[in-house]
Amino acid sequence: MEMTIWSFREDADKKAELYEFYHLNSEHTARTQSFNAPKMDYKLPEMREEERETVWTVPYLEDIPDDGFTLKEALMKRRTSWDFQRETLTDAELEKFLAYSFGINDKEQNLKTYPSGGRLYPVEIHLIPTQKLVGKNRIFAEDCCLRYNMHTRNLEKQSESDVRKVDTLISATDIGPFSFGEAQFLVCLVGNPEVMKKKYHALTYRLMHDECGHIGQNMMLAAGMMNLNTVPLGGFFEDRIRELLEIRHTAKRVLYVFAVG
Ligand SMILES: Cc1cc2nc3c(=O)[nH]c(=O)nc-3n(C[C@H](O)[C@H](O)[C@H](O)COP(=O)(O)O)c2cc1C
Repeated sequence: MEMTIWSFREDADKKAELYEFYHLNSEHTARTQSFNAPKMDYKLPEMREEERETVWTVPYLEDIPDDGFTLKEALMKRRTSWDFQRETLTDAELEKFLAYSFGINDKEQNLKTYPSGGRLYPVEIHLIPTQKLVGKNRIFAEDCCLRYNMHTRNLEKQSESDVRKVDTLISATDIGPFSFGEAQFLVCLVGNPEVMKKKYHALTYRLMHDECGHIGQNMMLAAGMMNLNTVPLGGFFEDRIRELLEIRHTAKRVLYVFAVG
């Protein structure tokens, strides 16, 4: 069966109205504030998911050596660039990137380098390797998509991958002139509204996107420190990414994608 990439029949005006309607209806309300705002002593929900094989455990941020790179240097280097040229990351370098971007910086309370509404962490972090990374270190010894569990610091096997498919996930590489051939991995931020919906209701929609922004900025700054280039990507094909990552939970949405390399 032939697949339709662009549907020119879609009613963009109507869709935009619908999104606006949803956005306006996801506002923070007095009800959310009075009855459902988090107290300090609330219990985190228990999310039971199928057990996954752990491939690696990322160290705590405080256990990663500091190389003296300043915040100003990181901000001066923060740029979007498709010019992926860096040599392949070692396991220690990958650990460093992950620990800075979304690692744990408070061992006692298990808090992270990015904030999360109500400390609920609804945004899942998935890594898809490219041909440049697969088989070049122990973390990506196999062509597999890994999910970073932000609570345990474990990299868990999410799904089989296929490096030949990576360029088909994004419009700029599938139909446009770019390629991920020299990039190292994609980071897909996947929102799971079930994690915070009970507490925040429709506001969840905004809070998940806010969290993606924090994670994304951490990644771009950490990338600068490590001479990696990054591209924040809005133009991705969600259905193809869901298929590759085997995301079957219908409420989960791919919210943001970054290329790193
Ligand atoms: C939400 C968001 C989505 C973006 N989507 C894309 C994209 O699909 N493709 C791309 O090449 N750049 C994308 N960009 C990068 C912007 O083009 C870039 O940030 C902008 O040109 C400013 O350049 P700078 O990031 O180097 O300062 C995106 C940026 C943001 C914040």
